[in-house]
Amino acid sequence: MDSESRYLVHKAKEATDYAYAPYSKFHVGAALLLEDGTLIIGSNQENASYPLSMCAERVAVYSASSQYPAKKIQKIAVVAHKKTKKDLVPATLCGGCRQVLLEYESKQKQAIELIMMGAKGKWIKCPSVVSLLPFDFDKSNLF
Ligand code: THU
Repeated sequence: MDSESRYLVHKAKEATDYAYAPYSKFHVGAALLLEDGTLIIGSNQENASYPLSMCAERVAVYSASSQYPAKKIQKIAVVAHKKTKKDLVPATLCGGCRQVLLEYESKQKQAIELIMMGAKGKWIKCPSVVSLLPFDFDKSNLF
């Protein structure tokens, strides 16, 4: 992995410290990089009314878009653990987060790179969100 991606993974790991996950005990952290080098983190935030909970990736991307709406998102790293940061578990983006990220990828007309951990601790890098969610609802993403 290149140094920038390693840095993002490191920051995503740190973000798991801020997860509020008393129900699932699944601590997820996301870190994204904007075009000017600004770093934004997010962590999952759960609620007693379970469906109101929010994934780490969405917390991060909504935070980015609400603070820096004009800055493009370059890449996002996502990690998760059940006990400690030293024992990461595989966590790929859920379908809902793919759809939400796709919205911003379409809007900015530039691919967002994804970094996540797959089976057996292997790092998965995807070049774009649309590669994980083809034939989506909004055809305008075919940039
Ligand atoms: N979760 C995320 O934060 N990101 C994902 O991509 C999948 C799941 C969270 C939601 C919930 O708080 C917990 O992980 C268990 O599903």
